[in-house]
Amino acid sequence: MLSGGLVPGSVSLVGGEPGIGKSTLVLQAATAFCSQGSQRALVVTAEESVDQVRRRADRLGSLPDDCYLFSTGDLMAALEAADSVGPSLLVIDSIQAISDGTVNSPAGSTTQVRECAQLLAQYAKATGTATVLVGHVTKDGSLAGPRTLEHLVDTVLYFEGDRHHALRSLVAVKHRYGAAGEMGLFEMREDGLSSLDDPSAILLADRQPGLAGSATVPALEGRRPLLVELQALLAPGHGQQPRRVVQGVSSNRVSIILAVLERCCELSVGSFDVFVSSVGGIKVSEPAADLTIGLAIASSLSGRALAPEVICFGEVGLGGELRQVSRPERRLAEAARLGFSRAVVPRNTPAGQSGLSTEEVGSVAEAIEVLGLLGPPTPEEARTTTLGAPSA
Ligand code: TYD
Ligand code: MG
Repeated sequence: MLSGGLVPGSVSLVGGEPGIGKSTLVLQAATAFCSQGSQRALVVTAEESVDQVRRRADRLGSLPDDCYLFSTGDLMAALEAADSVGPSLLVIDSIQAISDGTVNSPAGSTTQVRECAQLLAQYAKATGTATVLVGHVTKDGSLAGPRTLEHLVDTVLYFEGDRHHALRSLVAVKHRYGAAGEMGLFEMREDGLSSLDDPSAILLADRQPGLAGSATVPALEGRRPLLVELQALLAPGHGQQPRRVVQGVSSNRVSIILAVLERCCELSVGSFDVFVSSVGGIKVSEPAADLTIGLAIASSLSGRALAPEVICFGEVGLGGELRQVSRPERRLAEAARLGFSRAVVPRNTPAGQSGLSTEEVGSVAEAIEVLGLLGPPTPEEARTTTLGAPSA
């Protein structure tokens, strides 16, 4: 993910919600760093005791002798430890739990966090130590810390995923030494994090062919194409204000797409409660997924399923028109590799050598028609759609 690796003297921030696996990730990274050559690493654990961390490390495989652990919440003590160990990699877990005694402000406050990060950055530059700061963020990204540190550091990585699912993604939102936007995917297992070699296949493993309200998008996160199933469910709204619950995709995009479906496709979605989510907890933020979201919603509304061999992508404009997306060839190639054979795409999309049969459409309405999502569901679709419903 980090083209160029952990550059000496650089400061990286690993942000994520509590419990997502940041400590596990940095410990495994430090272990790997030490085993790659005769390099020393120092992990300063400000939230856990050395014993706790060592026990975890033993569970993840043995801790190399060159990987030092030190538990303190005091920045000066941490820097002194770094002076005596002389590590090539210094990890501070976490930046919120460490404080500088000369600053009259509690640990975790914006003032402390910024002050400590600044001193650690100075130390990193002065000694050439690659430094990794762990920072907690809450769901809304607030909390003193990571967000205010982004401009202070060279690299910002966010570790995301659903705590209740095993899938984790690490996204480089800023990287001074290489391409940003790269994503790494991991699975949290009994024995720690392991990197996923074929994430698309895992993400699609539970896909139910013939299910209304489901559509698959070849998303592009960084350089890597990733097939993600998007699901929509429209349920009759009972309240005054229909509910909009969105997970994994942008709720603003969903609002726009609902308006487009209503106005440009003459689908009456307005009174329904609308639920949209990406399967596996993967975040798909790019507009390339617009068409897929729209088709999933249209499919849920009519109860007619998309053919299982179809993928689709395209950015939706306010007039319901479709725009091209970046790197269609890569998306199509990944879809072909996973067995998809048809793609519904914006006009003038270069198909490349994927072997998929592409159907070019100019608007969402046209895509809905091409895919036969209008009209009542077939008996088979009606049966599949109510899968799991109590039988009469
Ligand atoms: P942790 O790295 O402590 O999270 P963070 O530092 O972001 O708060 O990991 C938290 C969760 O990960 C914890 O609930 C247990 C789980 N976990 C595993 O499932 N397998 C493992 O091998 C480890 C070390 C943790
Ligand atoms: Mg932790």
